[in-house]
Amino acid sequence: MSSSATALQGYSRLDDEELEARIRAARQELGERLVILGHHYQREEVFRHADYTGDSLKLSRQAAQTSAEYIVFCGVHFMAEVADIMSAPDQISILPDLNAGCSMADMADLERVEDVWQELSEVLDPDEQVTPVTYINSAADLKAFCGRHGGIVCTSTNAPHVLEWAFRQRDKVLFFPDQHLGRNTGYGMGIPLEQMVVWDFRKPLGGLSEQQIRDAKMILWNGFCSVHQMFRPEHIDSYKERHPDTLVISHPECRFEVCQKSDYVGSTEYILNTVSSGEPGSRWLVGTELNMVSRLQQQLKPRGITVQFMSPMVCMCSTMFRIDPQHLLWTLEGLVRGEVVNRIAVPEEDADQARVALQRMFDLAV
Ligand code: 13P
Ligand code: SF4
Repeated sequence: MSSSATALQGYSRLDDEELEARIRAARQELGERLVILGHHYQREEVFRHADYTGDSLKLSRQAAQTSAEYIVFCGVHFMAEVADIMSAPDQISILPDLNAGCSMADMADLERVEDVWQELSEVLDPDEQVTPVTYINSAADLKAFCGRHGGIVCTSTNAPHVLEWAFRQRDKVLFFPDQHLGRNTGYGMGIPLEQMVVWDFRKPLGGLSEQQIRDAKMILWNGFCSVHQMFRPEHIDSYKERHPDTLVISHPECRFEVCQKSDYVGSTEYILNTVSSGEPGSRWLVGTELNMVSRLQQQLKPRGITVQFMSPMVCMCSTMFRIDPQHLLWTLEGLVRGEVVNRIAVPEEDADQARVALQRMFDLAV
């Protein structure tokens, strides 16, 4: 058993009340030396301890602005990496459980992206004709790739503005890892579906003809979020049959057909704000992660707003769920003793180049 697993064993025996009280005590003791950032998908027992909550863009801005010595990120690995990249060298970014990755981010890796870039050069000059755009849900070395090839990072909030920027630089975009965010955003900007091709990295030239590559405006990586894949257009149809007045809102990681059937599409922060400002008596079908939807449901019920999760199946982000009060407390009590656990430190060269791509996004100010 690893030393962290042994150290955590003591925490697994604590009851909810003790965990809660000790987290509060540790936060108080650390005071302004600590900031806790919490993504909307965090479970309630963790989420309520966050100093700032939000979507990936909002939290990455917080990470760039805070002067706290310790940034404890209750989210997933790529988020803590961004916090490390955007904070000062003497600030420390921490992920309470190192197993909290993002399965979609893991679908693209540097080696394969470099292979695609190389293969594209058989048909065109990618450094002249293609802007690489990575969704923030990606490893730091992919952000670095974008930094050194004139590319940029986007989030679910700013993807349309980022793509506009990308097309001002070069004629085409290579978008990774989420094909759905790429397709939904491109379509919203007026790009026809046939000009957005999916690159299948198991096949030569991505399974595409040279002509298809020349004609494409967007080359989409074959990645997806397994949580958002669960929402289907038929879920919308069957709920609306029973409740025709329902408003449908989805995250842009959902399939194209789901987004097309939705009244609103946007980031987790956008979903929160839009549903929360709904009229009393309104009914919402929401296509995003379960923990967030359940929280909205409870918060808005007293105001007469009905919130329904889109899928009949339970689909939550199991990696976000890895951050539990036990890991949070273990992390914080370590810091109180002066022991840093689970530090996320991006190698300097990657961090420098990734910062270029992130800064291009922040400079767009959206
Ligand atoms: P947001 O930036 O909209 O919070 O999305 C992050 C994410 O991972 C959604 O699955
Ligand atoms: Fe990644 Fe999907 Fe989880 Fe978001 S919901 S963190 S994209 S696995």
